[in-house]
Amino acid sequence: MRKKIAAANWKMNLNMSDALQLTHDVMKGFNAVARNCEIILAPSFPYLSYIAGLTKENNSIHVAAQDCSAHSHGAYTGEVSAQQLKSAGATHVILGHSERRTYHHEQSEILYEKIKQALSHNLKIIFCCGETLQQRNSEKHFATVTQQLEETVFKLDPKELSQVIIAYEPVWAIGTGINATAAQAQEMHQCIRKETRNKFGNEADHLPILYGGSCNEKNAAELFAQPDIDGGLIGGASLKTESFLAIADALG
Ligand code: PGA
Repeated sequence: MRKKIAAANWKMNLNMSDALQLTHDVMKGFNAVARNCEIILAPSFPYLSYIAGLTKENNSIHVAAQDCSAHSHGAYTGEVSAQQLKSAGATHVILGHSERRTYHHEQSEILYEKIKQALSHNLKIIFCCGETLQQRNSEKHFATVTQQLEETVFKLDPKELSQVIIAYEPVWAIGTGINATAAQAQEMHQCIRKETRNKFGNEADHLPILYGGSCNEKNAAELFAQPDIDGGLIGGASLKTESFLAIADALG
């Protein structure tokens, strides 16, 4: 059975003491005992090693970076390498988030380089994909998402794929308060799983596929009840302990 996952993408929010307090409160409130689920916290780079230290003893709580460099090391001022993230205690890295694609013009080619870097340093990947509203309105949403995957994670081998979590995040739903309906999300997740099965056979059954985009404590239960939705990548609602814990509770 696939693990259920609630991943918190804190983006460029919280100062150091708030981030540590939130981590502490989430750890205190999250009871994973006898539940097949886990939490991933994605703070800003400077807090990673502190949060990794706090959560180290808890097997159900992991720490993700929000990006990594496509380069292994060297003269890339301001960049952070996968190896550095690993050495700071990160276990996962988010790649391909729509905000990186939009504001930093990241496309499949560079994302594939980042994926390779992350994998070579034993970081698991939360790989984001999703269509714009315009693409959905012109019926190109399935083709868009399939292409995003074909140019990146579908180029991996099955062993590498086992280190990947997909996050379907329709761009029009991120931070807008307008989530995809459970039916819309399930339809896309099913499509992603079907395409994965075409390439990787039964590996597809083990691939966690998260939904992201205005997921909150009110809509999480219905979204997570869908057969191909294995949890969520949560932005805004992950910044408050009660909201995030309620979402984690909805994992079932
Ligand atoms: P949101 O963000 O939950 O605030 O819509 C999700 C994300 O960008 O990962």
